[in-house]
Amino acid sequence: MMLKTLQWTGNALRLVDQTRLPGEIVYVDIATPEAMHDAIRRLVVRGAPAIGIAAAFGVYLGVKESNDASFPADREKVCKYLATSRPTAVNLFWAIERIRRIGTSPQRILQECLVMIDEDNAVCRAIGEHGLNLLLSHCGTGRVINLITHCNAGGLATAQFGTALAPMYVGKERGVKFHVFADETRPLLQGARITAMELLANGIDCTLVCDSMAASVFTNHKIDAVIVGTDRVAANGDVANKIGTHTLAIVARRFAVPFYVACPTSTIDRTLANGTLIPIEQRNPEEITCGFGRRTAPEGVKCFNPAFDVTPAELVSAIITEKGVLRPPYAL
Ligand code: MRU
Repeated sequence: MMLKTLQWTGNALRLVDQTRLPGEIVYVDIATPEAMHDAIRRLVVRGAPAIGIAAAFGVYLGVKESNDASFPADREKVCKYLATSRPTAVNLFWAIERIRRIGTSPQRILQECLVMIDEDNAVCRAIGEHGLNLLLSHCGTGRVINLITHCNAGGLATAQFGTALAPMYVGKERGVKFHVFADETRPLLQGARITAMELLANGIDCTLVCDSMAASVFTNHKIDAVIVGTDRVAANGDVANKIGTHTLAIVARRFAVPFYVACPTSTIDRTLANGTLIPIEQRNPEEITCGFGRRTAPEGVKCFNPAFDVTPAELVSAIITEKGVLRPPYAL
């Protein structure tokens, strides 16, 4: 990857500020739990696996000065605080819980955070291998594989390699050619700003489309599959992902195109029986009325701005994890 999503500097977590992409590449050093909470909430760091790792480092930053006596209470306080930064991606809670469980000292917590970066790379790579095999199994070899993706589930949503984009990166190393339609992903344009930038930088052929063009894309092009990431998968296989994913899945089914979800097993939340129980983040209406600083709707208009939607399991053709490909009926 050309950009490192997150790197430990020795006293801070260095993040590429994703709110500034693609125009400016700015790194910010996060050295306090408050700054980490703000970075996660404002999407400076974003994508389920990346915010999990960032939150884990946030816990370390909150306890690094603790002494033996204050450590347990300090750890509890910072874990609870960081868990309020965003509600939908279960990786955030998974990572905080993992740190809480192993955290017997600040130094031990830091070690675990660093392990989480390496682990994420290995997991994403394995997702890439399984995803590529799945795609080749129905597309065959020797031709361009045509895909649609939504939002950004690439390197910038993880430590380095991505989930939904990982099969393309592994495939490229092996000479497999892809063409990817990237949905722009209203309202914050993660597809246009981040996925398109990432794919171009990695030499993967990409065409940017508006979210509303899905039916037209399926009508006018032979699409082999949709592949997206997810923020949380319920036990029955319902999948929460960036708003607009459910619409894309409905259109894909209408055109009989497989709809694949790629995620680490840490994104599966077995405590929730189905997707209606997944907490959906509601964000500031100004993201719709005044996105990127320019007013595009009248003052005072009512807005509905959920950041995620839930695609029912019946529309999900397969879930690609680091352990292999899961098929319906899902009982996770
Ligand atoms: O609001 P965001 O940009 O954090 O939303 C990200 C997504 O919806 C991703 O598809 C999801 O987190 C999977 S990232 C591998």
